[in-house]
Amino acid sequence: MDPRSQVLLRQAEYFTGNLLLAGAPADGLLDELPRAQLWSWQADEWQKLLQWHAERLHFGYQVPALEVEDAVLFLPKSRELTEYLLQELVRQPGLQRLFMVGEKKAGIERAARQLAQFGKSWKLDSARHCQLWLCQLEPEAVQDQAALAHQWQQDFRVELPDGQVLELCSLPGVFSHGRLDKGTALLLEHLDALPSGPLLDFGCGAGVIGATLKALYPDSPVSMLDVDAFAIESSKRTLARNGMQAEVIAGAGIADAPRQLAAIITNPPFHKGVHTCYQATEDLLRQAANHLRPGGELRLVANSFLRYPELIEAHVGLCRVLAERDGFRVYAAKRAK
Ligand SMILES: C[S@@+](CC[C@H](N)C(=O)[O-])C[C@H]1O[C@@H](n2cnc3c(N)ncnc32)[C@H](O)[C@@H]1O
Repeated sequence: MDPRSQVLLRQAEYFTGNLLLAGAPADGLLDELPRAQLWSWQADEWQKLLQWHAERLHFGYQVPALEVEDAVLFLPKSRELTEYLLQELVRQPGLQRLFMVGEKKAGIERAARQLAQFGKSWKLDSARHCQLWLCQLEPEAVQDQAALAHQWQQDFRVELPDGQVLELCSLPGVFSHGRLDKGTALLLEHLDALPSGPLLDFGCGAGVIGATLKALYPDSPVSMLDVDAFAIESSKRTLARNGMQAEVIAGAGIADAPRQLAAIITNPPFHKGVHTCYQATEDLLRQAANHLRPGGELRLVANSFLRYPELIEAHVGLCRVLAERDGFRVYAAKRAK
């Protein structure tokens, strides 16, 4: 069981009523807390729990409309996302107590100060490198916060090498929130001569690669896949802002992607929550060939130190380096015909 869930269960007497677990991991916590409902914005966690607890699960970027007195926020990585989630949770009608649990190295002590703006708060427990905090919500403090206008979405522009300009919309917690990542920028300069046919932006984030593909290859159908509901919503807003149409898929990984693709284009993930994690990318490299047509291409940007070329050559085909800059490389490999 996740250490944060273990800390919660050490204080189980607090969690006997109707409860919302926001951002909880897919472990046995719902079995232990029979009156809890779980809201996740991570499609992989949600999919794992679906077979056992479908009726108590909610997926999306918005707080599910439930009447609960207590909620627990599992601290996410991004400070902006924490602020958004706290603000949204305290607005839920009937909510009286807001708990927050997180790892010390994820910044739970800093986040506890964000929690304290909504009422009297204190630390309930500290164990397994995690802390559990409780805030007894004060209606006046919550109302003061509700009166503040928050601009959660950040917009930015990206000029493509051919002079076209794209408008990007990103929500809190999305990769490289509000700006173009350096690695992605390098990839955007090397998207020429892709095979024609269906294209996939794997790990689409705010949708910059998918929207660029749509701009450069308007006749090719484009799919965009991400695990994170905030990324999915951002990509949808980016497409709408640019008057573009593409399929946007909330998925746990490459297994949820379409098949018979002409190309997969990606700046692939290297994090899961606060931890560095290459699993989703290694799965992508191992399984990409199953999703590509014969002659289909995998094109990706990654940190130069990562040993992806070996995996690419073992599972896709000969790996070429198309560009290198600022510690990033763009790789291309074609599936044999
Ligand atoms: C390095 S970011 C790139 C985002 C965007 N394409 C860009 O270039 O700005 C990787 C993205 O992969 C997503 N991701 C992480 N794990 C994933 C998984 N298992 N399946 C699909 N997407 C995943 C993350 O949410 C993140 O948006």
